[in-house]
Amino acid sequence: MNRRSILQTFLTGFLSASITSYAAGKDLKSLIVFYSRSGHTETLANTLAKLTGAETIRIESTSPYPTDYDATIERFKAERAANTLPAIYPIEKDLNSYDVIYIGSPTWGGHLCYPIQRFLQDTKLRGKTLMLFTSHGGSGEASTLDDLQRLAPGNQYRNIAFYGSGFGASKQFKHWLSI
Ligand SMILES: Cc1cc2nc3c(=O)[nH]c(=O)nc-3n(C[C@H](O)[C@H](O)[C@H](O)COP(=O)(O)O)c2cc1C
Repeated sequence: MNRRSILQTFLTGFLSASITSYAAGKDLKSLIVFYSRSGHTETLANTLAKLTGAETIRIESTSPYPTDYDATIERFKAERAANTLPAIYPIEKDLNSYDVIYIGSPTWGGHLCYPIQRFLQDTKLRGKTLMLFTSHGGSGEASTLDDLQRLAPGNQYRNIAFYGSGFGASKQFKHWLSI
């Protein structure tokens, strides 16, 4: 084994051990909760599920957002002006039984998308590790972490932001999970 392969073996072992410690080791139970209108956050959630082995739950508005982008923007603006969040279907899981909850959201107007804001508003999460992953179209994480801390106080937080469905998301997730 040459020096490079020894290093690679060491790094691979280190990364997988660290990922395990966040995802499945130390008896930590984890779950991925996400919303995705056009599929980017869903792709990220699936990548994260492969890496962690965590189950995924999709948040859905009871009145789905249009597939048409402009129509979605119109509805988003109307909800923002009225200061309302959409109704969502209830989650059939006892979230109290999880230690780590990964939360996936597209960025809307620099904030967490409204279905995820509604989920956080309705769900009292305390004493957990909340791992936020967001998908944006250029604005980066913007105010999304602030939103999470405001809507779900009393937890530990980590976050990562991707452009679209993320180029090389798997590698970035591995690094994120290992630190
Ligand atoms: C209502 C709405 C608001 C948006 N606001 C922003 C924004 O403020 N900043 C940004 O970078 N992208 C914004 N976008 C783009 C989405 O964040 C981006 O396309 C994301 O990848 C969509 O994720 P999804 O496919 O999981 O729905 C917005 C999209 C929509 C539909």
